[in-house]
Amino acid sequence: MKTVTISASKTYQIHICNNLIPQIGGHIANLVKGKKVMILSDSNVWPLYGESVYKSLHQCGFTVIQYIIPAGEASKSGENYLKILNFLAENQLTRTDSIVALGGGVVGDLAGFVAATYLRGIAFIQVPTSLLAMVDSSVGGKTAIDLQAGKNLAGAFYQPSLVLCDLDALKTLPADVFNDGCAEVIKYAILFDSELFLHLETYGLDFDREYVISRCVELKRDIVNRDERDLGERQLLNLGHTIGHSIEANSAYAVSHGKAVAVGTQIITAGAASEGICSADTFPKVNRILKQFGLPTETAFDSHAIAEAALRDKKRANDTISLILPKRIGECFIYPYPIKDLESFIKAGLAYANQSNPR
Ligand code: GLY
Repeated sequence: MKTVTISASKTYQIHICNNLIPQIGGHIANLVKGKKVMILSDSNVWPLYGESVYKSLHQCGFTVIQYIIPAGEASKSGENYLKILNFLAENQLTRTDSIVALGGGVVGDLAGFVAATYLRGIAFIQVPTSLLAMVDSSVGGKTAIDLQAGKNLAGAFYQPSLVLCDLDALKTLPADVFNDGCAEVIKYAILFDSELFLHLETYGLDFDREYVISRCVELKRDIVNRDERDLGERQLLNLGHTIGHSIEANSAYAVSHGKAVAVGTQIITAGAASEGICSADTFPKVNRILKQFGLPTETAFDSHAIAEAALRDKKRANDTISLILPKRIGECFIYPYPIKDLESFIKAGLAYANQSNPR
């Protein structure tokens, strides 16, 4: 088993190995005083792992209740948030009780925000079952719900008490959903680690699950330990996300997060290449690895539509927007880009990518 320790406003461990879900009760019994646990899960994940989690918690002496939401982003709503708070209150969970988030990013974000605010904060344990949630959303304490104006617009920084990444859960993940997570894995390699990038190039989709996931979590740990509240270098983790979020919004969320981030990474790297910001081999390598993992590199939206939605992003500050640009594989930097030039940067990126993107 690999264990990574986060030392932010709370110190907690992330365990990464097989067969963790059936042992969840023991892990939680060592952590919390209370004897009640609510499992929050969704309609896809609960039928697969609900019974195993329930049984393990029950065997360790917990009283277990569960709340199952329909799978999908629409469940990360204010309405569900309030319903779950009321459910906790009706079932009389106290401050020493806890919540288990069993699922992907939607479940984890929603459970985390509920945990952050119920009785002003109770413990929650992340049990991410998607690759994306293992390497990104379950780690680092960003919790949120969506508002009508956009995704993740209400939330809190609230760290979990424990994260259990059971690699067995990846075996039941639809290939398409697994691929979404690969976009985030590739992101870490481009940002920080050329060795990880080489491993991904060498093994493609057969990459070593334990090594890659724990490496991504270590890289995120280093950032979160230094900038938990996202005021500085944590913004690096948004490589490909400003354009990615814009593509998601433009498609009315028909394009998934991972696919949108893949296209965003392609365009931002092409933009950097067009301005001579990154080394000559950076764009071809990024383009090649995205394709190797079956991720998209093109979008139907034009530079105007992309820039417009990107400017509604949280990362905008006065007359600049923070773009994350690569210098080379393993090294990126934050560039406060003038808002007035964003559309032409994206246009140049799209043109460069078109020209240099062998089909
Ligand atoms: N997903 C980016 C972050 O956690 O900061």
